[in-house]
Amino acid sequence: MQTLLPELALLPQAGRAPTAYFENVTEAWLEIGFGAGEHLLWQAQNYPHIGMIGVEPYVSGMAKLLSHLDTLSPPGGEGEGEGAVYPPLQNIRLYAEDARDVIAALPDACLSRVFLLFPDPWPKTRHHKRRFVQMEMLDQLARVMRQGAEFRFGTDDHSYLLWTLERLSAHASFSWLARSANDWNTRPADWPPTRYEGKAIAVGRPCTYLRFIRR
Ligand SMILES: C[S@@+](CC[C@H](N)C(=O)[O-])C[C@H]1O[C@@H](n2cnc3c(N)ncnc32)[C@H](O)[C@@H]1O
Repeated sequence: MQTLLPELALLPQAGRAPTAYFENVTEAWLEIGFGAGEHLLWQAQNYPHIGMIGVEPYVSGMAKLLSHLDTLSPPGGEGEGEGAVYPPLQNIRLYAEDARDVIAALPDACLSRVFLLFPDPWPKTRHHKRRFVQMEMLDQLARVMRQGAEFRFGTDDHSYLLWTLERLSAHASFSWLARSANDWNTRPADWPPTRYEGKAIAVGRPCTYLRFIRR
């Protein structure tokens, strides 16, 4: 963590294009609260031309992702030698604090995809204001997302599901892509499972997968 995090850390700079935090990417995607980073890593490995910005303030989640990344090409290990790439994935940048800092610093219309997967549901009514999905946050996301960009939201919490659908449906900048129940009951092939989803499924809680387009 001490060596790899400084290599991959992103310091949000007001107005800087997200692709400018990388060497060689054509687009940038943002994952808010990546937990242990399974989904982020899968996307980065499967889409090497995309710059993946991952935000996770939970130290042990960040440590899990970094130790996984470290095993991909450890110094002194198989990946080392002439031509070896270290840090292992060039298309990941990480921020260990609040995703709102990153979003606020981004210029307009610069992200092609945003992931918010199994965010903390804050079930008590008096805590609903802490939920990440708020109309003001949707305004911010609409500002930084390109036309046609996708917002993906996964949850196992029925109340947060309804909350999110209500707000996204009421927001003029987003359209829900679902056409049939299969579209929200089934995780798309390019949406790998996350740790929290696994926990929910293990105890029989159904999960929902929402995809919205930035109009
Ligand atoms: C329930 S966990 C889900 C983690 C992961 N997405 C998954 O599906 O396994 C929610 C995560 O969101 C992170 N989080 C909460 N508020 C955040 C914020 N403002 N910015 C970035 N991450 C946040 C938490 O630290 C936590 O790890």
